[in-house]
Amino acid sequence: MTDDAPRTAGGPAPRTTAASRTMLSHIMGPTEVNLLGTVHGGVVMKFVDDVAGAVAGRHSGGPAVTAAMDEMQFLNPVRVGDLVHAYAQVNWVGATSMEVGVRVMAEPWNEAGTAPRHVASAYLVFVAVDDKGQPRSVPPLVLETDLDRRRHGEAEIRRSHRLARRRAIQAARAGAVEGAEVSVPAEAGQ
Ligand SMILES: CC(C)(COP(=O)(O)OP(=O)(O)OC[C@H]1O[C@@H](n2cnc3c(N)ncnc32)[C@H](O)[C@@H]1OP(=O)(O)O)[C@@H](O)C(=O)NCCC(=O)NCCS
Repeated sequence: MTDDAPRTAGGPAPRTTAASRTMLSHIMGPTEVNLLGTVHGGVVMKFVDDVAGAVAGRHSGGPAVTAAMDEMQFLNPVRVGDLVHAYAQVNWVGATSMEVGVRVMAEPWNEAGTAPRHVASAYLVFVAVDDKGQPRSVPPLVLETDLDRRRHGEAEIRRSHRLARRRAIQAARAGAVEGAEVSVPAEAGQ
């Protein structure tokens, strides 16, 4: 399902982007730095995953797991003492998966009036799961604004690229096996 129309009678009720949009804030401390003295990228990634997981859980009305994190961009360093805010919303939904976009902004924790810096952005795919860990249906997404519609359109482009890349890699691997040109041990692959 790639539009905002209700799926079928009896399926999950459609939800707006606003219904699950979430912001998470955190003051970065001295235990979160890397050897260069700036905040470790992994700390920012966990922060992003946390807020996106909350959004995915809220939209889907239950548990959702991270299936992929792509386009994680670190745009500016985050420093100790930064008050960091992560803004997240659902951009797109499929049958059981959702793309969540996250924008991370930082400002000094104790200074008012300083313009927040855009420090990171990411797009994550979550899959809603049932109590056995199997994918379950997600509510259709109701797009309310032009910004929602732009994000949805761009998410569809990312989705089609993701699927095309996966198909191309599978085809290349199948060809490599037929031609007996495989040089990577099976346990090193995914
Ligand atoms: C995510 C998971 C539930 C998918 O299970 P699966 O049996 O492979 O599911 P399917 O192949 O039926 O795909 C289900 C949906 O997820 C999407 N999906 C699965 N893997 C994906 C990936 N790597 N990237 C993007 N989308 C993906 C599919 O496109 C499909 O979307 P749709 O239903 O909206 O069309 C399963 O791989 C899993 O449990 N992974 C571990 C998740 C986890 O532990 N995360 C925490 C990180 S440590």
